[in-house]
Amino acid sequence: MSLTNQPDPEARARVVKQDLDNVIHPLLQHRALEQKQMVVTGAQGSTIVDADGTTYLDAMAGLWCVNIGYGRTELAQVAAEQMQQMAYYPHTAMNLPAAELGEQINGLMGGGYHTYFVNSGSEANEAGFKIARQYAKHEFPGDFRFKTISRYYAYHGTTLATLAAGGMGDRKGKFEPYAGEFVHVPAPTCYRCPLGLEYPSCGVACAKAIETTILGEGPQSVAEVIVEPIMSGVGVAVPPDEYLPMVEAICRKYDLLLHVDEVINGFGRTGKMFGHQHYGVSPDIMAVAKGIVSAYLPIAATVVKNHVFESFLGEVSEARQVMQVNTYGGHPVAAAVAVRNIEIMLEEKLPERAASMGAYLMDGLKAALFKHHITGDIRGKGLLLGIELVTDRESRVQLDGALVGGVVDFCRAHGVIVGRSGGGARHSNTIVLSPPLVITRSECDTLIEVLDQALAATVAKLAGA
Ligand SMILES: Cc1ncc(COP(=O)(O)O)c(C=O)c1O
Repeated sequence: MSLTNQPDPEARARVVKQDLDNVIHPLLQHRALEQKQMVVTGAQGSTIVDADGTTYLDAMAGLWCVNIGYGRTELAQVAAEQMQQMAYYPHTAMNLPAAELGEQINGLMGGGYHTYFVNSGSEANEAGFKIARQYAKHEFPGDFRFKTISRYYAYHGTTLATLAAGGMGDRKGKFEPYAGEFVHVPAPTCYRCPLGLEYPSCGVACAKAIETTILGEGPQSVAEVIVEPIMSGVGVAVPPDEYLPMVEAICRKYDLLLHVDEVINGFGRTGKMFGHQHYGVSPDIMAVAKGIVSAYLPIAATVVKNHVFESFLGEVSEARQVMQVNTYGGHPVAAAVAVRNIEIMLEEKLPERAASMGAYLMDGLKAALFKHHITGDIRGKGLLLGIELVTDRESRVQLDGALVGGVVDFCRAHGVIVGRSGGGARHSNTIVLSPPLVITRSECDTLIEVLDQALAATVAKLAGA
């Protein structure tokens, strides 16, 4: 029995039982799911509908990914046509949509790039690590360059290597040990500086720490540095403007590849097509996913600069080719949908819209939320925002986790889905927002109003405690 947008309690109850009896869900405690679930059956624009008829403003665009918004039925048409024409053939052969998508991405980067297709952001970063290592074997045969420098509290994916690259203890702890090829440095989380410094008198010491670390490890053992330009999962950490150029200069000085994770930042989210474009740097490797197809189908990619690509050229006997394969890499149906998704983004100027609507949302949030003493910081770029909650603004002590969770629950109970940062005891006190780039002004107003009420209720709880 299929569910529609109409409330259907019986069908909903059947699905819930069927699911609880048979399915494992990510991150959620199943005991809690037995008490309360969402069964999403419809979606349009920035709104999703539960089978019980409740609608929610989805201020997280799913998992930071439905950039063009829900309900674009023309993408279903594109998928159907491609499926009828040619549903699949492995990407060891060429296909039309993947070639077109590669050209589109190269154009968005201003030329000079080639794209390797995979299925998820995790795989895009994994492929990036492998490309960096293989490149180092080709280009520095006398060295043993295999390490990746990454930042504490970063999130780069869910596979073992991407977890090892990431720096979120609560996400990675259960799977330890890791093999040790990912070396961590302090992140530019300025509101809660890991070095106890203040910008600008810090001199961007966190970027300088990358060089110290490379020297300590031995530059001949390091292949690359991975950064998410604006760190999302840790509570939207916007780095100082000099940070990424400094990281790039260090990479150039030691012949390391700059690997940029644009899985969330990319495709308009931050007000430009890619997050690194705010900072004038030029990545050697770029991982993209999510917004590339606005989650209408799974597809992701590792985009490499031509000097990296050229390292993989040679005679067949030299075996310099990219030594990896994914069954679904370059899937023609997903690629065709991604091509149209990006066209829509360009036609509707969604990156520009993210910049202007993000500024509107930021101003509204600041005006409404700073009146609550638990609002510590409001930050972000475009439609990627974070509201850090504290016990009081002076001490910056993190608001108790249960109260932060209470804000998320309050919003949901009032029809708005917001997210919460990861990062354990140090960083999980930020409410994060990443709505579809088509969110309207009146939806922004609703979001601000509900957050205002949620913080007022939290302040009242604190006062009563
Ligand atoms: C910055 C970043 N990189 C990589 C990933 C992994 O992407 P996926 O979940 O598609 O594997 C995520 C997922 O949220 C992410 O936020």
